[in-house]
Amino acid sequence: MNDAATQPAPPQAPPVKRTPLIAGNWKMNFDHLQAIAFVQKLAWSLKDAQHNYGEVEVAVFPPFTDLRSVQTLLSADKLPVALGAQDVSPHESGAYTGDVSASMLKKLDTRYIIVGHSERRGGHGENDETVGLKARAAANAGMVPVICVGETAADLEEHGAAAIPVQQLTAALTHLAADAEIVIAYEPVWAIGSGDPATPEQAEEVGRALREVLRAERGDAVADRTRILYGGSGASQNVASYMKQPNLDGALVGGASLKVDEFSRIAQFTKHVTV
Ligand code: PGA
Repeated sequence: MNDAATQPAPPQAPPVKRTPLIAGNWKMNFDHLQAIAFVQKLAWSLKDAQHNYGEVEVAVFPPFTDLRSVQTLLSADKLPVALGAQDVSPHESGAYTGDVSASMLKKLDTRYIIVGHSERRGGHGENDETVGLKARAAANAGMVPVICVGETAADLEEHGAAAIPVQQLTAALTHLAADAEIVIAYEPVWAIGSGDPATPEQAEEVGRALREVLRAERGDAVADRTRILYGGSGASQNVASYMKQPNLDGALVGGASLKVDEFSRIAQFTKHVTV
């Protein structure tokens, strides 16, 4: 007799719930006064919509010069919007003119730091090692690096969608402690600011490949809890289609994060998820 047939199935581990993150990368837009006005309006809009920040986390990534003002507003009004920075020095302190250290950002209650954005990889010659060191500086100071990876149009043609992002993530992980909390943003370079986003299927394919890297390098627990965002011409009309994908857990939004109503709608994607 086959014992296995009579045994009850072993209990399945419940699926891991990852809190989606909707992150607004302002890039070089808004001075500190505009930043305050924007965050105030965003908070009102989300309050009107009875937004549950525990269900969908919302973060803004203003330029360095705005961080202190936004921090003051968030803390005075007890607004549950998370604060992020767009870059960080890989160094702790010292003779690095123009750079900003992780400990300075931590003092401003910064929770997230974008590293490896394609505009820095491309425009400032940042390689995988620099990106990894910046991610490490953020993590060591108690913040969460948002590690951006993505292929150019030429990479896509030559290697397919996943190869370069997988390579970039693998390289960054070599600089990070095994238990460091990270967020990954898959941002195809050709989709950024182009109005031509990746299809949800392509983004999911890369999301799945990135999660497999985490599983191989860090084990199941890290792979299951790490959030992978999609970025590149994200907007309120398409965000829900990414969020339906099992391996995508949020969005890193550029242009559309500069319009309060649009960004607020993106954060409320659960209300416009269609089957
Ligand atoms: P985009 O930018 O939404 O304007 O395409 C995304 C990003 O660069 O993070």
